[in-house]
Amino acid sequence: MSKKIALASDHGGFELKNLLAEKLKKDGYEVLDMGTHTPDSVDYPDIAALMADAIKTAQAERGILLCGTGIGISIAANRFPFIRAALVHDAFGARLCRQHNNANVLVLGGRTTGVEVAYECAEIFLNTDFLGDRHARRVEKLSHMC
Ligand code: RB5
Repeated sequence: MSKKIALASDHGGFELKNLLAEKLKKDGYEVLDMGTHTPDSVDYPDIAALMADAIKTAQAERGILLCGTGIGISIAANRFPFIRAALVHDAFGARLCRQHNNANVLVLGGRTTGVEVAYECAEIFLNTDFLGDRHARRVEKLSHMC
């Protein structure tokens, strides 16, 4: 997987997004930080749309989105048929969202997830492969839901 990763958050995920960006850069990733760039209030659907555009135009293969809880921004991101956004709270979820769901966007809550857990989730998300096989059939069905 490419070492390029897109990051974006609303104000609720702003601090954690910045910490993650620094950590990932230190770990050798090329980080595309699409904002928000100030703690001022912004609307999470607009941020999810930025991520969807970055994935659609292949600016990055995978991304990490954050809002306060991760809930609003994951709902918004999953409106795009080519996005499989997984709201994750621990290492187990981070691993399984890759192995079973082929998630291309990890979602974290800036107000619900601690920084060390966020680092661990990001590391696992970026270094775990999709298992394919029966999971591929299920993931394929996601593209034909409506
Ligand atoms: C913003 O206050 C907050 O609603 C947002 O970050 C997120 O938690 C929504 O799901």
